[in-house]
Amino acid sequence: MTPLLFTPLALGSVTVPNRIAIAPMCQYSADDGSMTDWHLQHVMRMGMSGAGLVIIEATAVERRGRITHGCVGLYSDANERAAKRVLDAAKAVALPGTVFGVQLAHAGRKASSQRPWEGAAALGAHEDPWPTIGPSAIPFGAGWHTPNAMTEEDIQGVITHFVEAAQRAVRVGYDVLELHMAHGYLLHSFCSPVSNQRTDQWGGSVEKRLALPLAIMKAVRAAVPKHIAVGARITGTDWIDGGMTIEDSILLAKGLRALNGAYACVSSGAAAADVRIPVGPLYQVPLAEKIKAATGIVTRAVGLITTAQEAEGVLQDGKADQIAVARAILDDPHWGLHAADALGVTLPRPLQYDRASPAKWPGARVNSR
Ligand SMILES: Cc1cc2nc3c(=O)[nH]c(=O)nc-3n(C[C@H](O)[C@H](O)[C@H](O)COP(=O)(O)O)c2cc1C
Repeated sequence: MTPLLFTPLALGSVTVPNRIAIAPMCQYSADDGSMTDWHLQHVMRMGMSGAGLVIIEATAVERRGRITHGCVGLYSDANERAAKRVLDAAKAVALPGTVFGVQLAHAGRKASSQRPWEGAAALGAHEDPWPTIGPSAIPFGAGWHTPNAMTEEDIQGVITHFVEAAQRAVRVGYDVLELHMAHGYLLHSFCSPVSNQRTDQWGGSVEKRLALPLAIMKAVRAAVPKHIAVGARITGTDWIDGGMTIEDSILLAKGLRALNGAYACVSSGAAAADVRIPVGPLYQVPLAEKIKAATGIVTRAVGLITTAQEAEGVLQDGKADQIAVARAILDDPHWGLHAADALGVTLPRPLQYDRASPAKWPGARVNSR
């Protein structure tokens, strides 16, 4: 019997050939939001990894929504051209059936920060910082920029930016759009009581805190063709007393499903600085399991899923419909091919690499992945 990991899955009207997704990973290597040669090699490589779905890194819907000076955006014609160059090349060499998506994001109060290798703190005065926005004028943590509490005009503007970036993404050629509602960025910061203390229609009750992410899902879904899948990355918990809870997340996922959201990828944390998270193998899978059981939305689990056996186990146990891998596939860019080897599945390799498949050379070993 074919392992579940290598069976197809429908995400709305898009079918992915297997259940391995590459989670979005910022490369911090863009030039004013435009992808560069780094992205060219990176995305081409990910397209040959054996993953059925490649989600491109958090891509800012407006310039001030970038996390760092190096983050990708889709807010200009130049950004759109650069992304198209990369995606066209990646599609030209990708394994058959590989689907490409993009994560549309706004960094909110966590914008204007340094790249990880520069320290990952808020940009200093000499580093060309920019003003940030959030639901309330509460910084992410000590030393972070205090965001400007958004006006109604700002909120309507952000909805428009998501719609326009989504339309650009469709022109670029992505088939899946993932709205970033996690990791403390703008849409999550509206969901979480630690960052959202508004008293208008966008804050207060849980329904009001979830209203902006859902309004954006609705607007984006309406603005792109039906053959495009629109999903979201959500937060299962803030891991903070008084923060966003799994009950809130279930409400969010129900709302997304009602708006024809194609899937929920369940992550967690990063709502505020200095929060302890019980990180360990498969640590976010129980959150995905609860979302799937309570809502029936197509659910993706992510977070320290590093072996083929773990991935297959999550699916066999019915805890999620799809899994995503991030660091393990940066480390081993053929992770999907190796997972197939480990589970006894033959995935077609690029012909140029075929002589390296385990059956064809004496030095081959199927690793524990
Ligand atoms: C280099 C790097 C960049 C990341 N960038 C993003 C991002 O753009 N958007 C996002 O939602 N998560 C991002 N993440 C989080 C990953 O998508 C993933 O959820 C996390 O690494 C846990 O999965 P893993 O244990 O398989 O690495 C990033 C992680 C890494 C390591």
